[in-house]
Amino acid sequence: MIQPINYSTLPVDLHPEALPSHVAVIMDGNGRWATQRGLPRVAGHRQGAQTVKDLLRCCKDWGIEALTVYAFSTENWRRPMAEVTFLLRLFERLLRRELADMQREGVRIRFLGDLSPLPERLQALMQEAMAMTCSNQRVQFNVAVNYGGRQELVAATRHIAQQVACGAISINDVDEAALARVLLTYPLPDPELLIRTSGEQRLSNFLPWQLAYTELYFTDLLWPEFDRAAFYQALQWYQGRQRRFGGLAPAPLPQSL
Ligand code: FPP
Repeated sequence: MIQPINYSTLPVDLHPEALPSHVAVIMDGNGRWATQRGLPRVAGHRQGAQTVKDLLRCCKDWGIEALTVYAFSTENWRRPMAEVTFLLRLFERLLRRELADMQREGVRIRFLGDLSPLPERLQALMQEAMAMTCSNQRVQFNVAVNYGGRQELVAATRHIAQQVACGAISINDVDEAALARVLLTYPLPDPELLIRTSGEQRLSNFLPWQLAYTELYFTDLLWPEFDRAAFYQALQWYQGRQRRFGGLAPAPLPQSL
């Protein structure tokens, strides 16, 4: 009889030394998942939040060191106000409910994006969560909120221009490493794997610099359906890829953080 796979630990056919150290995710399809079930769209976001929680725990259990998720883009403000309000309240509720567990499980949380337009109470909670978990090392959890990739690059360019203008660095010091140092994901390595659910095949302004060499995995599953078995399949696919970075020989295995 075939034994079902036990996903609580890394499935045996995945090579721990060839796992991505950093996985990025565009969580798409919450609304469609809910609509298909005759539920309001926000029920999809609630279910999607459960999926993120389990994926984060899965990364921790399987030895993946960093997870970056796109929770709210700069374009998401264009959604109906009731949905935006629901999402912001959901972030707040989740943070209040999960912070102690994240702290206990060694999760370091960081919010990437311009937090200033968010309600002050939520901003304060986010700052508190970042400060409280800043020395945790088991898994790094980045949540992109009011994030836009082009905006990130504009801000990085301004930052460097200021450094040059005030003489802190010379124009000759401006190279890829200098730019990477002023991005929101610094000092994490770039994600080796991006997952986008719901059949869409776009980057939607998510980490345009950091995803330049990333393997892109698209699945038709809707985000609330993306469980450990689906993550396992994505990792199997990833391990079947040869990362060459434009050269001929396969690249060495990913460096740990
Ligand atoms: C995309 O589905 C999903 C979002 C814009 C929100 C993602 C937010 C969560 C999963 C909630 C909690 C997350 C964290 C990390 C606190 P969609 O609404 O675009 O779905 P559709 O394309 O089917 O309309």
